Amino acid sequence: MISSPSKTVSVIAIDGPAASGKSTVGELLAKKMGYLYFDTGVMYRVVTAAAIARALPIPDEAAITQLAEKILIDISPPDQNDGRQYTVRADHRDVTWEIRERKVDANVSTVSAYRGVREAMRAQQRRVGERGRVVMVGRDIGTVVFPDADLKIYLDASEAERARRRHLERWARGEKVEFESVLDEIRRRDEIDSTRSVAPLKKADDAVLVDSTGLTVEQVLERVWQVVEGHAR
Ligand code: DC
Repeated sequence: MISSPSKTVSVIAIDGPAASGKSTVGELLAKKMGYLYFDTGVMYRVVTAAAIARALPIPDEAAITQLAEKILIDISPPDQNDGRQYTVRADHRDVTWEIRERKVDANVSTVSAYRGVREAMRAQQRRVGERGRVVMVGRDIGTVVFPDADLKIYLDASEAERARRRHLERWARGEKVEFESVLDEIRRRDEIDSTRSVAPLKKADDAVLVDSTGLTVEQVLERVWQVVEGHAR
């Protein structure tokens, strides 16, 4: 555990754009510290996947907000050995892989820009974070959800590097997509995530910037670890 006589790290916020490596690093960091790992993007993905499954039109903000307010989202340790970081259920149905599908990727930025959706998700995120000892990963954790987080990291990487990572991930899952289309999608999501009026993606003033471009996962973790240790000292 990272603690010192003067400071104990309880909520670590990791924010950053799509495919910047937040979930990989967040999970490894949480494991190393014995903290809970909480990927808040999952919640927006669940609402998006549920809207698609119910054939709700994505532009129908009122219907999607209503859905977000009543859907039961459960994130628990993995119950299957198929490469998942955790098991995700929406109203008791396993949607762990469904929320990673392309149609979810293509619509999640729109859904997560809806004010009512964000309010519903934020309330749940705060409840989890208030228990402490959590590494919380997202877009607005350090700016809006936990502006008083003990430690904030903003993880970034160049657009090309992030598209390359997402492209590799998709091929590993058997999706034979063109690099250019993945790059376009990353650009589109960056644009929506960072220009929306509610809780846009941006680095908190007091967040430490870590640029993962050209670094291995181990190198990024080492850099993040230095920040955590430096903070606890
Ligand atoms: O990190 P991700 O790709 O799984 O996130 C999915 C979407 O959810 C992304 O487009 C932005 C949104 N998101 C958000 O607005 N706020 C968060 N705290 C986490 C994710």
